[in-house]
Amino acid sequence: RTGIVQIPVVVHVVWNKEEEDISDAQIQSQIDVLNKDFRKSNSDISQVPSVWSNLTADLGIEFSLATKDPDGHPTSGITRTQTSVTSFTVDDKVKSKSSGGEDAWPADRYLNMWVCKLGGGLLGYAQFPGGPAETDGVVITYTGFGTTGTARPPFNEGRTATHEIGHWLDLYHIWGDELSFEDPCSRSDQVDDTPNQANENIGVPAFPHISCNNGPNGDMFMNYMDYVDDRCMVMFTQGQAVRVNACLEGSRSSFLT
Ligand code: ARG
Ligand code: ZN
Ligand code: CA
Repeated sequence: RTGIVQIPVVVHVVWNKEEEDISDAQIQSQIDVLNKDFRKSNSDISQVPSVWSNLTADLGIEFSLATKDPDGHPTSGITRTQTSVTSFTVDDKVKSKSSGGEDAWPADRYLNMWVCKLGGGLLGYAQFPGGPAETDGVVITYTGFGTTGTARPPFNEGRTATHEIGHWLDLYHIWGDELSFEDPCSRSDQVDDTPNQANENIGVPAFPHISCNNGPNGDMFMNYMDYVDDRCMVMFTQGQAVRVNACLEGSRSSFLT
């Protein structure tokens, strides 16, 4: 692929308590993070251990709030919906008006991002490519969205959206998502340059964290597709770029102009 892929974004703010009706500035702060992380222009990329600095990737994707709605009329790229639902979960109710949320815009032309209160400590979730258009996109909790306003540490650097959009572009968790009764080293994220890793890392790990005989360098826990705190996740790899490009040339090719 040559050239940068431009992704128009619509942010659906679905709110019950007033504070969940996040500001335009908070939304823009999230778009700004995405435009750094997917272009490898995030300043904290310098945290990548030198053994892996040759693997860091510019995914060549840029995001901007939509300027035209599905009918071609001018828009801010933000919808705001008051709801009686006090907290949402992974059941996709936030994705339709009839269940207290807001309907998706056409998924072949927009990345739909819903921002609402998610329950149970859930920061966000995503739909992988190939699913129904009506539920396509990512959902992020209002305390883990952007870098200002209601964003709360340690999830106030916008990385939940970076991670969920990684899934939306067909990236799997870096540890392979084994089930609890399986050998934790048995599955792969289908990417060659990420070391095989047993389980997810959380918090702020120390380098190296070794598992699955992956020494001396260990887990690539500073990858966006692990589960560490926002300030610790700083890179995609060249191998992940290959998967994302296959997605953009395949099931999400409607975004290539
Ligand atoms: N789906 C994951 C969760 O809700 C997202 C993890 C994102 N991690 C982060 N540091 N922002 O737990
Ligand atoms: Zn995930
Ligand atoms: Ca694993």
